[in-house]
Amino acid sequence: MARLEIVKIGHPVLRKPAEEVKPEMLKEPGFQKLLRDMADTMRHADGAGLAANQVGCNHQVVVLGCDANARYPGGAAIPLQTFLNLVILEYSKDTEEDWEGCLSIPGYRGLVSRSKKVVFEALTEKGENVRRTVEGFEARIIQHEADHLNGLFYVDRMGDLKRWIHLAEFNKKFGTHVHEE
Ligand code: NI
Repeated sequence: MARLEIVKIGHPVLRKPAEEVKPEMLKEPGFQKLLRDMADTMRHADGAGLAANQVGCNHQVVVLGCDANARYPGGAAIPLQTFLNLVILEYSKDTEEDWEGCLSIPGYRGLVSRSKKVVFEALTEKGENVRRTVEGFEARIIQHEADHLNGLFYVDRMGDLKRWIHLAEFNKKFGTHVHEE
């Protein structure tokens, strides 16, 4: 396993819609290594999700998963999962606001309104087609990562940038000690 460099906002790859993964790519050792390295990179950075364009690869790949995580007070543990060609099919009308960060925008948090529940379709790393309904924190991560695949950041989803704050202020507000670089 290896840790990959996470590219930051401003890098053009993060604004380009990612390309579909062709089924034959799943058999390539290099591609399977990318999936493992993405999981390793995400975990090392204490992230809850990571899209392939964040490590400079323009394909529709996301990994998610975290232990109960200091970076996300209130966020529950989520098992490690890999999804390819992820498409959100349904967004619940019911929404909720919560704080989001992004490994490509280190040192900031923003309050973002998202659907409480989404239905999505994707391929697993073994090439199986799955359709899932997720809610709460997991639904938020799925929406955040699906946005990355379309070249969007959470800040693009914020109605009011007055609620975009520096991590030092976030830490003061919530009594946390999260550090990112
Ligand atoms: Ni992100």
